[in-house]
Amino acid sequence: MYETLADFLVRPAPFSVSTTELLWTDPHIADEMLRFHLDETSDLASRRASAIDAFVGWLDRRFPLAGAAITDLGCGPGLYTSRYAKRGALVTGLDFSANSLAYASKAAKAANFPIDYRQADYLRDDLPGDQDVVTMIYGDFCAMAPNKRRLILDKIRAALKPNGVFVFDVFSTGMFENLREERIFENRLMGGFWAAGDYVGFKATFLYPSEAIGLDRYLIATPDRTFQVYNWMQYYTPAAIIEEVRAAAYSAVEIADFATGGSWRGGATAFAVIARP
Ligand SMILES: C[S@@+](CC[C@H](N)C(=O)[O-])C[C@H]1O[C@@H](n2cnc3c(N)ncnc32)[C@H](O)[C@@H]1O
Repeated sequence: MYETLADFLVRPAPFSVSTTELLWTDPHIADEMLRFHLDETSDLASRRASAIDAFVGWLDRRFPLAGAAITDLGCGPGLYTSRYAKRGALVTGLDFSANSLAYASKAAKAANFPIDYRQADYLRDDLPGDQDVVTMIYGDFCAMAPNKRRLILDKIRAALKPNGVFVFDVFSTGMFENLREERIFENRLMGGFWAAGDYVGFKATFLYPSEAIGLDRYLIATPDRTFQVYNWMQYYTPAAIIEEVRAAAYSAVEIADFATGGSWRGGATAFAVIARP
């Protein structure tokens, strides 16, 4: 017990441990994530419908979706893919969360959208080729370690047509500036999010200001098991993400406001990135 708790408070090296899959594959946590994805009053796992509509609106105006081949990486319950399909795109949705995909497939069937949903790990598995547009939304790019970000940039570049685009969003350093280091422990931390029955949850937030990286580290102790979750996040300035994407051999990288597709004015918001191979 002492060793576990003492180690929990030690600041890990940035991106030195990855537990991403557990968040989306532990049955209870995956159900809770799906609930948050679909919760219109919370931005915890997905944006609200109005923000998604606004994004898809400008994406369609800039890169006409009718007839376009588009893949959404980490599509979750299909909040973006269904809107792409409604606008006539040929859509693939890729995610490793079985329950999010089950929800997405059921919704697509009900709406008669022929969306190709695939349960796959975009870091390990092949991506569909000849794509006009690839999207990856809600800071998923920022949650990956630098070597994985480079890998996914390479894979997406190879999956795009020569005139295709990769559109994604990143969290800004303005958002990082609002964060504070904290230590919390509570009975059923986050109201039962981490396990169905009794548990005690510990949360330690670590900030790495010189690298603009944040870590929310959780230690969850149930009567039967103890596990930890590391939620890493890389925050970006426009210059930093442009440099990183260009280093992966993209020829042009543009920053845009996520909601309007126009110029991003800065501040504590995510922003969109449009990258061309
Ligand atoms: C924060 S959610 C965002 C979902 C969706 N883009 C949205 O905004 O509604 C991240 C999604 O990415 C998926 N995901 C994360 N890493 C993945 C990977 N390596 N391969 C496939 N899916 C992944 C998760 O299962 C989850 O559905």
